[in-house]
Amino acid sequence: MSKKLHLTAFMRPVSLHTGSWRYPGSYPDANFNFGHLKSFAKKLEDAKFDAFFMADHLAVLNMPTEALKRSQTVTSFEPFTLLSALAAVTDRIGLAATASTTFDEPYHVARRFASLDHISNGRAAWNIVTTSNPDAARNFGRDEHLEHSDRYRRAREFYDVVTGLWDSFADDAFVRDQDAGIFVDPAKIHVLDHKGRELQVRGPLNIARPVQGWPVVVQAGQSEPGRQLAAETAEAVFCSPRDIDAAKALYADIKGRMRSAGREPDHLKILPAAFIVIGDTEDEAKAKRARLDSLVHYDSAIASLSIALGHDASGFDPDAPLPAIPESNASKSGRETVLRLAEQEKLTVRQLAQRYGGYAGLAFVGTPETIADEMQAWLDQSAADGFTVVFPFLPQGLDDVTGRLVPVLQRRGLFRSEYEGTTLREHLGLPRPANRFFS
Ligand SMILES: Cc1cc2nc3c(=O)[nH]c(=O)nc-3n(C[C@H](O)[C@H](O)[C@H](O)COP(=O)(O)O)c2cc1C
Repeated sequence: MSKKLHLTAFMRPVSLHTGSWRYPGSYPDANFNFGHLKSFAKKLEDAKFDAFFMADHLAVLNMPTEALKRSQTVTSFEPFTLLSALAAVTDRIGLAATASTTFDEPYHVARRFASLDHISNGRAAWNIVTTSNPDAARNFGRDEHLEHSDRYRRAREFYDVVTGLWDSFADDAFVRDQDAGIFVDPAKIHVLDHKGRELQVRGPLNIARPVQGWPVVVQAGQSEPGRQLAAETAEAVFCSPRDIDAAKALYADIKGRMRSAGREPDHLKILPAAFIVIGDTEDEAKAKRARLDSLVHYDSAIASLSIALGHDASGFDPDAPLPAIPESNASKSGRETVLRLAEQEKLTVRQLAQRYGGYAGLAFVGTPETIADEMQAWLDQSAADGFTVVFPFLPQGLDDVTGRLVPVLQRRGLFRSEYEGTTLREHLGLPRPANRFFS
């Protein structure tokens, strides 16, 4: 059987492009309008997308008011509230949410995902993040973000605790014998009693084992400890490689680390984020993107650049090259990507900021056929197992993907025409994990 693409939709915010809400015909209130979000989820499900993904940021991004007042990308619904509501109005599409290992507690995280997995009949996924926005610390009683290595150490232990809690009950622990009056078999309950360096959690979890055994585990950091965490734990990776060569290197690295960790490489799907703009011709698609980019104000652009750098760029000379930027405690891979782009393309601060103000990551801009060609090349060359689709504006940009690109992918046998099963694990071709405490 030939390989097929997996597609997830990046839906928090509904578009990452700062100008998206101003694009003609777009819904400016889409982030907070449940009716719109429901219709997006249903269209994605009709197109057989693997999952609807809600990122999460725990703070209004660290940007000045001049930029904040222009941005729709910093505010949106809390993921579990939204995904629980969407679970009730969809049947098949996976429902993925970010939860932070730095600012949350494993007992809370395990419960929420187990609940979402039951409510949705096996469609939940947890995107493990250590949290990229340093400002989140101030919303959780701390002055500073944890050090990068400390947050990854906590994340690794956090994963062990959450998965251990999901295994609290054997799959058949709830006997519910009405005649005998026995609801649950105590021999099939495991008390985790975790006492680690960072976390102490007794357990058991107060919810039955999730439908999928464990909700699908996703990872989204690309630094050295991020890749290692992915190789040891993740079943999908959301990443942001700048081009196919960078993606191939990342793909080979993570799958190689999996082999070293004794895992089967096919049990993890690498899904780079791709911004997709579709036109009748390539020129029309490029013109749409240029129009969209023109809707980003310089104040927003420089703020986005500062966030990507982890360093305030507002005082830099806009028409000079980027000065030396010290390492910070923010995202490592973000800073490196900006520095490389600035150097490779010899961009001034202003040019770099314009790039970051819109959408700076990987973009496929063309006709449905040219984009399908690119996606096929990524799949064939082991650069990706699929994509995390970022829409340029909504509803039109989403309709273009579901109504124009997906049919081309389906005709070429590159994407499913029907769901293979009912759970997200089945869509992604992932095994159901055994319970580590019960056979
Ligand atoms: C597609 C995608 C989705 C992400 N979603 C989130 C998110 O929801 N919340 C968050 O704090 N960071 C998110 N990130 C950022 C990563 O979790 C991570 O913080 C960032 O890549 C830097 O990590 P690193 O220092 O390990 O490279 C996302 C990244 C990508 C590529």
